[in-house]
Amino acid sequence: MAKILVTGGCGFIGSHTIVDLIENGFEVVSVDDNSRSSINSLDGIEKITGVKVKNYTLDLKGFEATRNIFVENPDITGIIHFAAYKAVGESVDKPLFYFENNMFSLINLLKCVEEFNVPYFVFSSSCTVYGNPDAIPVTEKTPTKKAESPYGATKQMGEVMIEDFSKVANANTILLRYFNPVGAHPSINIGELPIGRPMNLVPAITQTAIGKLPKMMVYGDDYPTRDGSCLRDYIHVCDIAHAHTLALQYLIDQKNTSKCDIFNLGSGNGVTVLEAIKTFEAVSGVALNYEIGPRRGGDVVAIYADNKYAVEGLGWNPKYTLEDMMSTAWKWEVKLKEEGK
Ligand code: WQD
Repeated sequence: MAKILVTGGCGFIGSHTIVDLIENGFEVVSVDDNSRSSINSLDGIEKITGVKVKNYTLDLKGFEATRNIFVENPDITGIIHFAAYKAVGESVDKPLFYFENNMFSLINLLKCVEEFNVPYFVFSSSCTVYGNPDAIPVTEKTPTKKAESPYGATKQMGEVMIEDFSKVANANTILLRYFNPVGAHPSINIGELPIGRPMNLVPAITQTAIGKLPKMMVYGDDYPTRDGSCLRDYIHVCDIAHAHTLALQYLIDQKNTSKCDIFNLGSGNGVTVLEAIKTFEAVSGVALNYEIGPRRGGDVVAIYADNKYAVEGLGWNPKYTLEDMMSTAWKWEVKLKEEGK
């Protein structure tokens, strides 16, 4: 059974990916300092899979501590690297905090890949690397643009570092560019746990609907889109998770066409903010208390994926609808309230 190290394993996408890996026959070890996640996610994973996953609670910026994971687990076959700070707004206020955390942790991991000859490395990247695209949908060949935030810059720099590293290392690597991951596992045992006021749209919607937030702001309705609000490609977190399992299998089966393949992980459907809200209201039966406010700095007007390369190359078949995304996100929010969280 191939052993996979998942960094950020207690986080939103990391925890869902661990479930999918286990369900597909992989052994998993997690590393997460829980600075932006809860160790309780491992209980949710155990409820779903019956497996108690070991987590190394440490900061990947510490090289010796990071290296020790590989000393204790010399049979690590692959790494999926999620652990990073990801709040766009915070990164604008604290660029060095983001560069230090996101880049030092990646460099330490790549040094371990080299020293311990880990064959496969999958990197959590983002559609943010495309900036404001000139044409949509975007393909993997769409030129990247100057990042709109230091967070986006860390994803772009991460991609460059991994691509250059892969040219001289034995490891084969994959960059997965997520669009907007949303929703929760259908079992409702794991889901998104934003810390503080949610930055992202769907947790802002569900927290407003449950009454945690008094109201929600729609950041602008004067954009050149079909209803004036920004357009995005929302993709269920379980579809994103399964793509990671497929990406590892793709490398293990040596199907990769280069040492650093890139895949867009989006549904291929563009949805506006107002359409997302309307879908949530229809699914939940809750009328959302929102108002139109000013645009948010750094927001991309419109982006959605051409996901053909991932569908054909990885054999990926995103199956969750926007309604599924909203209903699972809402059920998760209701459960958090029942648990007093
Ligand atoms: C989506 C749309 C907002 C909140 C970023 C990163 C991306 C990924 C996801 C990490 C925008 C609007 C939001 C609200 C709103 N990061 N909105 N009111 O900015 O597309 O992507 O987060 O995984 O890499 O770039 O996602 O959910 O923040 O915003 O109107 O209260 O919803 O303006 O148009 P975004 P988002």
